[in-house]
Amino acid sequence: MNKEPVTRELFDQVMVPNYAPGSIIPVRGEGSRIWDQEGREFVDLQGGIAVTCLGHSHPGLLSALHDQAEKIWHLSNVMTNEPALRLAKSLCDLTFAERVFFANSGGEANEAAFKLVRRYAWEHHGPEKNEIISFKNAFHGRTLFTVSVGGQPKYLEGFEPAPGGIHHAEFNDLESVKKLISKEKTCAIVVEPIQGEGGVMPGDPEFLKGLRELCDEHDALLVFDEVQSGAGRTGHMYAYQMYGVTPDILTSAKGLGGGFPVAAMLTTAEVAKSLGVGTHGSTYGGNALACAVAQKVVDTISQPDILKGVKARSDRLRKGMMDIGERYGVFSEVRGAGLLLGCVLTEKWQGKAKDFLNAGLDEGVMVLVAGANVVRLAPSLIIPESDLDDALERFEKAVKKLTA
Ligand SMILES: Cc1ncc(COP(=O)(O)O)c(C=O)c1O
Repeated sequence: MNKEPVTRELFDQVMVPNYAPGSIIPVRGEGSRIWDQEGREFVDLQGGIAVTCLGHSHPGLLSALHDQAEKIWHLSNVMTNEPALRLAKSLCDLTFAERVFFANSGGEANEAAFKLVRRYAWEHHGPEKNEIISFKNAFHGRTLFTVSVGGQPKYLEGFEPAPGGIHHAEFNDLESVKKLISKEKTCAIVVEPIQGEGGVMPGDPEFLKGLRELCDEHDALLVFDEVQSGAGRTGHMYAYQMYGVTPDILTSAKGLGGGFPVAAMLTTAEVAKSLGVGTHGSTYGGNALACAVAQKVVDTISQPDILKGVKARSDRLRKGMMDIGERYGVFSEVRGAGLLLGCVLTEKWQGKAKDFLNAGLDEGVMVLVAGANVVRLAPSLIIPESDLDDALERFEKAVKKLTA
């Protein structure tokens, strides 16, 4: 076993430099607390970017992992397995879905969704109907297709040629979609009901309803990317249920595994037919260990008291951050839903979101950013209220120092 000291410096020596991690290296987590190599303790409002929805070392997830680990970890998709079938059934029972495809990451679930919309249109309408409408500032993953459907050109820079047939409309602006959509060419509209990476920007209910109507009028499929907004984060199993707008395809990842890599694409029986045998696949998709853990996540977060608890925690956190914002003149609004919140920096602090993240770390609280102007919070859905209060106290100290 390699016994070299593991330091932050090692990152620069052995890792591809596509990330710029902070100086601390967390080594242990329990609930919503994390400890680093030096034993410093942090309250975790990052949640692994909306992933660790039941916190760290959740006893139910640990036992699900252990139980399955002692049975069978992996089978190829030449065979199916019990955890995958059970999880697919649960996801169908809890949502509009009738069919499920499993993958390992949000990007991979979206890749499946984007291939499916093209294939469905190709089968039902012909090869001309292949255009996808998505939105500026959207984020759908880092594969070449998903980064192209995403609406942040910086992530595509230097990686062209990109897949074609993708048009970007303005988020929350139905007129801009109407200018791009056509019955002959548009096969799908792809949208995050709440843009996460793009600044925690909730879709207007009327806008999302309008997208549904436009899709119906133009024989196009509606895809909701709920990789960040799903798995209980909004206080609903999926955000579409909060909006009352049902997509044809929904992608889920992040919180679905509570920290174990797993993702799912949900759809109807009719649309699913277009991914027939051999058209698509994934070696690890439907991995038994991953699905057993995700099953426990789904069983837990779908409980009404957990979802209700998200709303209560959201109110407390939102109010706490708004109060801090007002006292120190740093936030103009706190937006988002449930436990996906974005604190928007005031004019004076524009571009400085990272400073808030770093100041928080100095005081023992982990927050996120979403771009340069938004401090993002995505803690565990079951974070104890006392941890929330502690986190707010620590964050206020950080803001006080930063603004002094
Ligand atoms: C809305 C959305 N879609 C897709 C992704 C990509 O997921 P992954 O990093 O698991 O590929 C993300 C990740 O942040 C996301 O927020």
